[in-house]
Amino acid sequence: MFTVGVIGGGQLARMMHPAATALGITLKVFAESEGSSAHAGATMVGDYTDFDQLAEFANSVDVITFDHEHVPVALLARLESQGVSVQPPSSALIHAQNKLVMRRRLAELGLPQPIWSEVKSAEELDEFVAKVGGEAIVKTPIGGYDGKGVRVVGSATDVQDWLDSLPAYGGSLLAEQKVKFVRELAQLSATNTAGEFRSWPVVQTVQAGGVCSEVLAPAPSPVDAVAAVEIARGVAQGLGVTGVLAVEMFETESGELLVNELAMRPHNSGHFSIEASTTSQFEQHLRAVLGLPLGDTELLAAAAVMINLLGVDGENDFVSHYPKAMQAFPEAKFHSYEKAPRAGRKMGHITLLGSDHELLKANGQAARELLYRGDA
Ligand SMILES: Nc1ncnc2c1ncn2[C@@H]1O[C@H](COP(=O)(O)OP(=O)(O)O)[C@@H](O)[C@H]1O
Ligand SMILES: [Mg+2]
Repeated sequence: MFTVGVIGGGQLARMMHPAATALGITLKVFAESEGSSAHAGATMVGDYTDFDQLAEFANSVDVITFDHEHVPVALLARLESQGVSVQPPSSALIHAQNKLVMRRRLAELGLPQPIWSEVKSAEELDEFVAKVGGEAIVKTPIGGYDGKGVRVVGSATDVQDWLDSLPAYGGSLLAEQKVKFVRELAQLSATNTAGEFRSWPVVQTVQAGGVCSEVLAPAPSPVDAVAAVEIARGVAQGLGVTGVLAVEMFETESGELLVNELAMRPHNSGHFSIEASTTSQFEQHLRAVLGLPLGDTELLAAAAVMINLLGVDGENDFVSHYPKAMQAFPEAKFHSYEKAPRAGRKMGHITLLGSDHELLKANGQAARELLYRGDA
């Protein structure tokens, strides 16, 4: 009765499987390659930029959703015009695909965000850099992830290579004020196709080299949790988002929240919810895109910490080091995405529940160290 089709065979599609299995929902995955993280449940392997393949996949499911935001919106709009249910709809997804489109729309909605500008030349960029105090952040509007596509610049020469290939990024770059944030937060929420909205407690995210390394749930207080939810609600309603929405934010010294970027799918900042919430982000996403009532989102422990496992080299898959880590930390929940090891690659994560973030973080980091170092 309920069949969900996910485009993309990464770890997010992979982690939807246990939730679908528990609910008795059929999950089909359109993976990009045989060896993808969600390979065990992949029902089709192909090219998501090929309309005929997308249409074939869409015909076998009740609703299409995503593991990543890379499917061209023109193809999704074509599917929609043929009656396919695409959740989130292409009109919403474009804001997660293109950071310039997002900035323009958030400005129209009056939502708080860093000072920004669209730049098409070295002159325009240098002018912006001077305006914001000599240093700025420049982003490629499309295709960036895990800090790829984000640079700190003192002048246009720092992104000359991007300026030289502007057509590849849609014709312009996004320049932003370099926010002096105290910490980064993420507000996870879900909206179902009937408009029901639910949010998880706002979390703190810690990035290392542009990649998420740790998540603390809930964000240690003081935090303006009400403002965070209202921003997420404003984004979800204003953009017409369905499914899980992650709003990455900066918290400034005065406690103000500014929107950094959006993801319209389960997100790394919500992995804690698998063990730490009544309803995980993966279950909620399936419910939301199918138009089912949403589940409770409260935390089952006073504190939860998620530690990312990033590849250390081309050899260590971490799984082979489970015995030591599991022996030392029986309270930890280990997740592997079964991806080929590569330095810096998101390979898995660890979640710990308890009452004290500092203790959980220390234990999680020690468990990670055992997986990273192996038998040393
Ligand atoms: N305007 C900004 N000011 C300060 N730091 C920023 C700004 N934009 C991004 N960053 C830093 O770079 C990281 C990655 O940027 P983001 O836009 O989220 O790209 P990605 O799509 O790679 O996650 C952010 O999590 C933050 O640490
Ligand atoms: Mg980000």
